[in-house]
Amino acid sequence: MRVLLTGANGQVGRCVQDVFAGSIHDLKPMDRGALDITDSAAVSRAVKAVRPDIIINAAAYTAVDKAESEPERAYAINVTGSANLAEAASEIGALLIHISTDYVFDGKASIPYVEDHPTNPQCVYGRTKLQGEAEIQIRCNKHIILRTAWVFSEYGNNFLKTMLRLGQERDELGIVDDQRGCPTYARDIARAVFSICEQYSYGREELGIYHFCGNEEVSWYQFADLIFQCAFRVGSIKKVPATKPILTQDYPTPALRPAYSGMSVIRFKSSYGVVPNSLSKNIEDCLAGLGHV
Ligand SMILES: NC(=O)c1ccc[n+]([C@@H]2O[C@H](COP(=O)([O-])OP(=O)(O)OC[C@H]3O[C@@H](n4cnc5c(N)ncnc54)[C@H](OP(=O)(O)O)[C@@H]3O)[C@@H](O)[C@H]2O)c1
Repeated sequence: MRVLLTGANGQVGRCVQDVFAGSIHDLKPMDRGALDITDSAAVSRAVKAVRPDIIINAAAYTAVDKAESEPERAYAINVTGSANLAEAASEIGALLIHISTDYVFDGKASIPYVEDHPTNPQCVYGRTKLQGEAEIQIRCNKHIILRTAWVFSEYGNNFLKTMLRLGQERDELGIVDDQRGCPTYARDIARAVFSICEQYSYGREELGIYHFCGNEEVSWYQFADLIFQCAFRVGSIKKVPATKPILTQDYPTPALRPAYSGMSVIRFKSSYGVVPNSLSKNIEDCLAGLGHV
């Protein structure tokens, strides 16, 4: 399969490249410099030139708080960019695999969200990602939308890397304990995407929306504690900082986030057979990866 990857320099984009390395698939990674997805003519040109069987869209505007003050930019990337890719994919009959988010939900549930649970995003980022999903559903029949959550990896910026840095700078950290979600290792997302490509290459098309995220629900506070325990155990940090649970209201941010965003991965598992590794193994693997990034 010829596979075009957008957003190749992001966390998911980098992990997709790692997982595809050495496979029989011909991956054409394009970072923002090579392909700006907001430029419809450039998207059309790139897709016609590469003629991919599959397009993986890992490009997005992901700065959740900043999106509140620059909604037009978030819209251009998450909505117009998605629409451009959907149009171009549809024109050549390619499968579009698009990554979306748990922030399309309002967080009022208390059991894992399933794919057809009503959406109700609470922030600009979530709204633009949901509108991006809608553009894809309208414009491109052959699509898979993979909603994921709380992404961490050795690449880019993420909660794990922020905690490691702050944990060495400060003696005590207050961390939000009343938002719960499923931390997801970007490498697991890449394995999930790879499995979709493999199955597609055998002629299997199970399309639509899927949830794929880590299989443990934690608060940010619990996630931080796990990171520090693992990092200390493997020698990545010299001391475990003191942590204290705080409430969202004590750490106000511009964007409202769902208080609960656990997602059920049953549908993905039964269609594509991939399950995430345990959170502690993923944290350990990520810490090991950080050693050679
Ligand atoms: N991070 C999370 O916690 C999280 C949670 C749920 C869902 N997701 C979803 O997962 C996907 C991947 O996220 P990620 O964590 O890998 O994000 P990331 O590390 O921020 O990567 C996003 C990439 O998109 C690129 N990009 C931005 N605007 C672009 C444009 N106009 N044209 C082409 N590329 C552009 C960025 O380029 P630059 O490097 O040049 O900025 C960046 O490399 C996104 O769809 C995101 O919404 C993420």
